[in-house]
Amino acid sequence: MIKTFTIEISKLVPGLVLAKDLIHDKTGAVLIPAGTQINQQHLKRLHAFAVKGRCVVNDPQYLVLNRDASGGAEAGATIRPLPSTINEQTRKIYIATFETIKKLFRKDQNIDEQGVKEIMEAAVNISEEIIRDPYVFPQIAVLKAIDNYTYSHSVNVAIYAATLAKFLGYKDQALKDICLAGLLHDIGKMDIPREIVDKPGPLTHQEFMTMKKHVYYSYERLKNLKSINNNILAAVSQHHEKINGSGYFQNLAGVQIHDWARILAIADVYDALTTDRVYREGLLPHEGAEVVMGSVLDHLDYEKVKVFIRQMSLYPVGTKVALSTGETGCVVSHHAASPLRPIIQIDGRPDIRLDLSEERTTFITAIVKD
Ligand SMILES: [Fe+2]
Ligand SMILES: [Fe+2]
Repeated sequence: MIKTFTIEISKLVPGLVLAKDLIHDKTGAVLIPAGTQINQQHLKRLHAFAVKGRCVVNDPQYLVLNRDASGGAEAGATIRPLPSTINEQTRKIYIATFETIKKLFRKDQNIDEQGVKEIMEAAVNISEEIIRDPYVFPQIAVLKAIDNYTYSHSVNVAIYAATLAKFLGYKDQALKDICLAGLLHDIGKMDIPREIVDKPGPLTHQEFMTMKKHVYYSYERLKNLKSINNNILAAVSQHHEKINGSGYFQNLAGVQIHDWARILAIADVYDALTTDRVYREGLLPHEGAEVVMGSVLDHLDYEKVKVFIRQMSLYPVGTKVALSTGETGCVVSHHAASPLRPIIQIDGRPDIRLDLSEERTTFITAIVKD
């Protein structure tokens, strides 16, 4: 059975899926049927009708793991040309990391010391760039330029995790090791039957149970390698544990969960939620941030989530966006206090800069990919 929980209707955020019909508290009418994924329009309507009470939603972590499935069937393994605003050095490192990850996942054998060395080289290159400027790599991650989920996810989790680690004060080798853990965290998916990993749709309960075992297999593949230290191993083997103890594979809770695993968990959930899949559109950065924020109390590390949302450039400068007004534009800057509502230079109107922190009724509706 999919796990569900009951929440106040006022606490609903985009991305959550209703497990039961949402009923009008006064008339008893079904307002939104079970199975619907909540979006901004639903929230506006509920607000307009002042609907009160509680509703039942699916555990968002289940949604994330379902999104974890499917690596090959839905796509090949290519990378879209990156926008010209991204500098040559960053572009080269990103493409080289993608090639290294592709080689690792395609090799049908155990990762050896040489394999770890190659991945570490990629982790060092990414980390050094993030230490120099933490705003450049998230700008690529947001574009989801790699068309294969498993590869794209591994690279993006490494980028988000290393950037969050930098904002949390991690330095030098520790930061590089966290980045490496991000690149390797789902390597155990190689041991899950292809028909489950490649399934272009939500998993059944049984398939979901099998998919969960990827954490154990990741651990098994890495545990005997000399160059993988205990911190990296803990980060990888605990990345699906939850603060309230309801995660897996060891059912750890609270302080039992390694600090690096808490970092990976945030990066993992955020990337999974914001990626498009063949059967479901990914959430926009601000919607993904709301779901992550909504699951902090019992799943994720609250203090780290706050840093992630406050500091991370979830709409990096240079991102092209479409707005609810029908216009398109480019992110030019942010207010520190409201990073999810950036300032947009409107296309074709050089005199107009729209400040979304002031224009509260205008929303970003899509990220425009070149
Ligand atoms: Fe995972
Ligand atoms: Fe993952």
